[in-house]
Amino acid sequence: MSMNLVTTLYLIASICFIQALKGLSHPTTSRRGNLFGMLGMALAILTTVGLIYKLGAELATAGIGYVIVGLLVGGTAGSIMAKRVEMTKMPELVAFMHSMIGMAAVFIAIAAVVEPQSLGIVKQLGDSIPAGNRMELFLGAAIGAITFSGSVIAFGKLSGKYKFRLFQGAPVQFSGQHKLNLVLGLATLGLGITFMLTGNLGAFALMLALAFVMGVLIIIPIGGADMPVVVSMLNSYSGWAAAGIGFSLNNSMLIIAGSLVGSSGAILSYIMCKAMNRSFFNVLLGGFGGATETAGPAGAKEARPVKSGSSDDAAFLLTNADTVIIVPGYGLAVARAQHSLMELAEKLTHRGVTVKFAIHPVAGRMPGHMNVLLAEAEVPYEQVFEMEDINSEFGQTDVVLVLGANDVVNPAAKNDPKSPIAGMPILEAYKAKTVIVNKRSMASGYAGLDNELFYLDKTMMVFGDAKKVIEDMVKAVE
Ligand code: TAP
Repeated sequence: MSMNLVTTLYLIASICFIQALKGLSHPTTSRRGNLFGMLGMALAILTTVGLIYKLGAELATAGIGYVIVGLLVGGTAGSIMAKRVEMTKMPELVAFMHSMIGMAAVFIAIAAVVEPQSLGIVKQLGDSIPAGNRMELFLGAAIGAITFSGSVIAFGKLSGKYKFRLFQGAPVQFSGQHKLNLVLGLATLGLGITFMLTGNLGAFALMLALAFVMGVLIIIPIGGADMPVVVSMLNSYSGWAAAGIGFSLNNSMLIIAGSLVGSSGAILSYIMCKAMNRSFFNVLLGGFGGATETAGPAGAKEARPVKSGSSDDAAFLLTNADTVIIVPGYGLAVARAQHSLMELAEKLTHRGVTVKFAIHPVAGRMPGHMNVLLAEAEVPYEQVFEMEDINSEFGQTDVVLVLGANDVVNPAAKNDPKSPIAGMPILEAYKAKTVIVNKRSMASGYAGLDNELFYLDKTMMVFGDAKKVIEDMVKAVE
């Protein structure tokens, strides 16, 4: 395979990746985007395998066998995990994948530092690695190590399955934490520069160890509610780590793909911070969204009265409305009630009710979660509205049906300057003439806060699992 051909194929793969990102920016084009991504990745892998084969022949090494075994094992494990994962567990899977990318960058950097001749960085064993390459290896390895340990903590926090203190959703904070992080950051930088200037292996190893510790320390003070931003920030880090390693290996594909992941992750983090009205610094300094208070009807912290009704009552209100806005949230995804919801929306539309769906950018547990959920149930795109396009309509709407959503409709964000979510834009459901809220209890949502919306005079709570409640509503509407 000539180098010209390799470059051309890498260029085509890069164009596919750009098309993939473009496609993924809207639900209607996301399938096409995914196809482009798969095509680009297949092309990039095949080209790289061809390149390794060529270099292997030249360097008389037989690494290609390991590459194929690695591809088969990794590819099979990845396909099984992706097939099995539930939609609500997707952020954990993404965090896990980021940790793998981070560790891969660390392993490649170690291999390149120990055996630079095998990767074509120097001509023969004993030659010293050029200072420029040492800098790239330092950056790739340090960012990779931070990404790895940070993503492991994010994985633990998101899964909520482990008793280990660092894996709890609540922020872990101690005095002098930020100063310690600063000292560690400066020490990591100092050791990296020492490695760059002298090639000292001890400095490289110590720098890696500090970077692993830093990854943990950066993520533990961040509370559960900020995890979406953290996952996309780690996504960005994993891209920059890959790009750093790409420079060391002189592999243009890795540089381009890494930079695309790095910059798109950074842009997504920015968009999410804006959606939550939080500055990036504020997120990184952590401490938000800790305790998940459960003010359930039993064991309630403060037993305030709420109006509650049955699915039949809700169906009565819905069928008598002219306009209905449905607000889906995390609970709808947990209940897997999207198909029943679609049936309910169709039945209401059939009876002449105008039905719209309102999506908050951070509803659910991952960016675009609700869009994917509604697309699965084939809700027509023209009925689905983003927050900024529909917020002005709540005031003139007869009934808002809130299904398994909580934080994204919490008026405290607007009315209570002391609330941890103060300033976060919300779907203004409280402005509608009547509000129906379905959830299983009075328990709080992800941010662990009570919600004034549930106690309003115009609000009717319908307690129960979203799927069962919606199925009952469908029967009642019939
Ligand atoms: P949440 O505020 O988490 O509220 C979800 C509600 O669903 C809960 O109060 C829960 O109450 C209810 N629920 C759970 N299972 C249910 C079921 N089977 N049937 C009916 N209801 C059920 O959700 P949201 O309003 O979508 O807000 C999202 C929150 O997650 C935000 O704070 C956001 O910052 C955070 N977050 C977002 C993301 C992204 S990127 N979207 C990622 C991670 C975190 P009961 O227990 O009483 O049923």
